[in-house]
Amino acid sequence: MGQYKTQEEAEAAGVYVRKVQSFVKREGRLTKGQANAIENNWSEMGLEHQNGLLDFNQVFGRTAPVVLEIGFGMGKSLVEMAKNAPDHDYIGIEVHRPGVGACLMEAEEQGVTNLRVFEHDAVEVLADCVPDSSLARVQLFFPDPWHKKRHHKRRIVQPEFVQKLRGKLAIGGVFHMATDWENYAEHMLEVMSDAEGYQNQSVSNDYVPRPDHRPLTKFEQRGHRLGHGVWDLMFERVK
Ligand SMILES: C[S@@+](CC[C@H](N)C(=O)[O-])C[C@H]1O[C@@H](n2cnc3c(N)ncnc32)[C@H](O)[C@@H]1O
Repeated sequence: MGQYKTQEEAEAAGVYVRKVQSFVKREGRLTKGQANAIENNWSEMGLEHQNGLLDFNQVFGRTAPVVLEIGFGMGKSLVEMAKNAPDHDYIGIEVHRPGVGACLMEAEEQGVTNLRVFEHDAVEVLADCVPDSSLARVQLFFPDPWHKKRHHKRRIVQPEFVQKLRGKLAIGGVFHMATDWENYAEHMLEVMSDAEGYQNQSVSNDYVPRPDHRPLTKFEQRGHRLGHGVWDLMFERVK
């Protein structure tokens, strides 16, 4: 940033500054199956950030509530959810290409048709491709916790981000988070409780039991046996 004291100052002067990102791009190799799945399914199921604002009716060929998932990993639980809710449409966003391939492979195997995916930064997809007030639900499951204090700024749940996200939820739409890292759960709760326009769906004003629509992951089952916790948070857009 050189002579500029803050990112805002530098940006105001028109200097390009790399923003803090919630991920580090790993160039993992694709398996043959993942590569084939992308090759075979991208034209049907892939969405491109560069194409700009989406028209959901056109994308899915129908009108249905749209659920968007940020950072779906290998996509196993996302595909399962899409399969279990054929009356909803799903959009998954993931930066990790092998994950995108794995998700498309699973979707093909399961015969899921109500799912589309982006291979891109979810922050940019939300800003540039998702219409305002359009989403029934946004899911953020086990986001990178960034354990070290000096890395906490990389956590995707931040006051500015959750307000941008609120603008994309319909009124009555829900932002659903889950994490197995207690310190991140507390951070989420603090950011969301202070955030304007959201109402906590928890009766005790903190966490909610895992809702049926979120499948239990393998690692979570193992975690339960070891006595590890998982925290779900659900906040509704009320204005
Ligand atoms: C810890 S993994 C969890 C994956 C999955 N949700 C699960 O529960 O197994 C977090 C994932 O979020 C992805 N991710 C992080 N920041 C992202 C962003 N800004 N846009 C899209 N994906 C992101 C990472 O690539 C990673 O795959």
